[in-house]
Amino acid sequence: MIDLRPWRDRTVVITGGNSGIGLQAALALKAAGADVVLACRDTTRAAAVAQGMAVRELDLADLDSVEAFADRTDRVDALICNAGVMGGPLLGTVQGHERQMGTNHLGHAALIARLFPLLEQSRGRVVLVSSIAARGGSLGPQLTVDDLVSPPAYLSQKVYSNTKQANLLFAQELHRRVGDRVASVACHPGVSWTNLFLRQLEDEGRGWLVPVAKVLGPIFLQPAKAGAQPTLRALLEPSGSFIGPKRFNQVRGPAEVLDVYTTGSDPATAARLWDVTEQILQIPLPH
Ligand SMILES: NC(=O)c1ccc[n+]([C@@H]2O[C@H](COP(=O)([O-])OP(=O)(O)OC[C@H]3O[C@@H](n4cnc5c(N)ncnc54)[C@H](OP(=O)(O)O)[C@@H]3O)[C@@H](O)[C@H]2O)c1
Repeated sequence: MIDLRPWRDRTVVITGGNSGIGLQAALALKAAGADVVLACRDTTRAAAVAQGMAVRELDLADLDSVEAFADRTDRVDALICNAGVMGGPLLGTVQGHERQMGTNHLGHAALIARLFPLLEQSRGRVVLVSSIAARGGSLGPQLTVDDLVSPPAYLSQKVYSNTKQANLLFAQELHRRVGDRVASVACHPGVSWTNLFLRQLEDEGRGWLVPVAKVLGPIFLQPAKAGAQPTLRALLEPSGSFIGPKRFNQVRGPAEVLDVYTTGSDPATAARLWDVTEQILQIPLPH
């Protein structure tokens, strides 16, 4: 049982907190007395599951929405960058960036940058939700702007892996740059049964598989509540840590401190990702 009492009366913003792992983490924090803010793109759907938690609009696939969210925020002790999309056809964000990278990495990087003064004020922390898919990421030190915003060959699962590698690299680089003022911890939920898989099937034109997945998913995958444990433990571990399950090649099990994957630990790639992200966003990242 993870002891969340240190988060009592503290403000925790969770992106995509209306569903899956994010919702389970939010409910555990609410039960521990935290002031939880669900930052979601569909506030009506979020309000339906909020159980008294605050709901605020945030679309990570629109950098203006990210800016507006930050402008309306006056307190944050922890920012959990949990929202994510996986797979689907090649689509763009409002600013025309590839949708998976735009949502999973660029939107979160912009949100972190814009909320950083508040996080610094509260000596707060950032949690970035990565994935075991980060192990298959191919971002390297020669990374270009185009690699992130318009990948030359769109292989949807490869791009997803790159987005999750970016989350892990970004968490490490944030730790190196500002970890003495704002803690930065990465985590991954193993493989947990959530809407992520159903949405991927629908987005990829395989919606006919949804009824089968709904039967098999809960049997073979761990529940979202178990997948939320690494996120919760990441709220308690020192800056620079990486948290996730260890069992079955990290697919499931209790949340433990892990070694950072090779793909997520190269400082040259992380520094390059930082610079390229700054060029795309045209705002200064935390320093
Ligand atoms: N489930 C797993 O096994 C697994 C494994 C590794 C990593 N992860 C990561 O865990 C995180 C949570 O995923 P999940 O499994 O809990 O899936 P989920 O139930 O589908 O939750 C994803 C959340 O992200 C939100 N979201 C998507 N696009 C957004 C946008 N543009 N702006 C704001 N919010 C947006 C979704 O909102 P809507 O409800 O409006 O779509 C939803 O709330 C993701 O980062 C995912 O990559 C999951």
